[in-house]
Amino acid sequence: RLLIIDFGSQVTQLIARRLRELNVYCEIHPYQNVTDAFLRDFAPKAVILSGGPDSVTREGSPRAPEALWDFGVPVLGICYGQQTMMTQLGGKVERGHGTAEFGRAFVTPAADALNILDGWFAAGNEQVWMSHGDHVSAIAPGFKVYGTSPNAPFAITADTERNFFAVQFHPEVHHTPKGAKLYENFIRLAGFTGDWTMAGYREQAIQQIRDQVGDKQVICALSGGVDSSVTAILINEAIGDQLTCVFVDHGLLRKDEAIEVTRMFRENYNLNLIAADESEMFLGALEGVTDPEVKRKTIGKLFIDVFDKYAKEIDGAEFLAQGTLYPDVIESVSFSGGPSVTIKSHHNVGGLPEKMGLKLVEPLRELFKDEVRALGRELGLPEQFIRRHPFPGPGLAIRCPGEVTREKLDILRNADAVYIDQIRKHGLYDEIWQAFVAILPVRTVGVMGDGRTYDFACALRAVTSVDGMTADYYPYTHEFLGETATRIINEVPGINRVTYDITSKPPGTIEWE
Ligand code: XMP
Repeated sequence: RLLIIDFGSQVTQLIARRLRELNVYCEIHPYQNVTDAFLRDFAPKAVILSGGPDSVTREGSPRAPEALWDFGVPVLGICYGQQTMMTQLGGKVERGHGTAEFGRAFVTPAADALNILDGWFAAGNEQVWMSHGDHVSAIAPGFKVYGTSPNAPFAITADTERNFFAVQFHPEVHHTPKGAKLYENFIRLAGFTGDWTMAGYREQAIQQIRDQVGDKQVICALSGGVDSSVTAILINEAIGDQLTCVFVDHGLLRKDEAIEVTRMFRENYNLNLIAADESEMFLGALEGVTDPEVKRKTIGKLFIDVFDKYAKEIDGAEFLAQGTLYPDVIESVSFSGGPSVTIKSHHNVGGLPEKMGLKLVEPLRELFKDEVRALGRELGLPEQFIRRHPFPGPGLAIRCPGEVTREKLDILRNADAVYIDQIRKHGLYDEIWQAFVAILPVRTVGVMGDGRTYDFACALRAVTSVDGMTADYYPYTHEFLGETATRIINEVPGINRVTYDITSKPPGTIEWE
């Protein structure tokens, strides 16, 4: 296994991700924990030193354990990791003074070729991503220069006798196109064969959950989305009866959703599941509410209350399980307390741990969405659940501008079901990030048969996106749109007009509220 010593870079997890892509098992440990004894115990086959926000020129700044240098395994130092390596091995690092580099830079090869750079420099130089204020001003004894950039004469250095490698840039980010190749060369050199898989992750995560939870009880809010489903199944596998899941039906779910989700779990997994039908309460609280933020806050607060109520019935619950993914972790770190405005109050179980005094179990914290899907497959989650489009916590309430009424919700559910059926029949479901119907708060006049109708209008929405942060509308053919509109109007009483929303994000948002 490989050890990543974390000095606090925002992108340390990306190093782990690159290694998982190469089927190498690695663990990230904060530098404070990695003592000489820890290192001996862990017995890594290779070590990577991450970047970090500190300056090695500061008295008392973080260091790698001294035992590392005689440990006899390959070491790769990145950015801060490079600088502490140089400092500890007898080189010199200095503060900025006009040599800071942030963003794209180009590295030119030095005279000799270096094994971990196999496949680099085909075009003479390579694009890399830099982010540093300090720079190395003298390399440590035994090191040679293998690559330079305009502001980093020691962009790539190495001591090939001891297999110590030091780079100033971040090979783990996408803006260093050959970065993955560098990692591949490094792990091959360290003797990894790349035989580790998601099955391995599953085993590792299960062990970690057992270690963390012991014999205590865990509760989990299950929505049926892929993140909470995988979280629940994984924890169930780890601790079985000590886990209780609560599925809250707030009356704002899609057609048959509550039935499908609870049935899937009951049929496939032996899991403690409380299905709580609280739709009366939620819909009651939403009566007369038209403001989108008030809707969101009303639902969010009730959700916490309801979950709290059920959790109290479980004796000795000490942990709350959450399907937090790595991108959520980065976002909350980068943006918490930042100057960004609230566009929408996103609803999740965020307020719960404080309110209930619970500790968190977050087994997906290191994973990206596609890895969660892979883990879901590994755990036997049906494909239909794995590929599901995202569905917002406040549910259909935010697809129903104006007051949310039972009548409108029923019409919306039926229209949405026909629309999604159309998308599936045309084989488009997996091409689209998210598709849904919004019911508009207006009635319009139509003519059906020989009669006049005065029914609701609806809007179809379908977007492509990578992460939901930006999105474009999906370019359906006119035939598809025509056929779908006809089906909805024929099959869904209460709707007599269908429109297609062609707004991208920005300036629009994906949901209507
Ligand atoms: P917007 O409408 O902000 O949506 O462009 C971006 C993505 O987030 C989903 N969304 C939510 N997800 N709780 C969630 O868990 C929420 O309150 C929420 N609001 C929006 C939305 O469906 C889209 O995928």
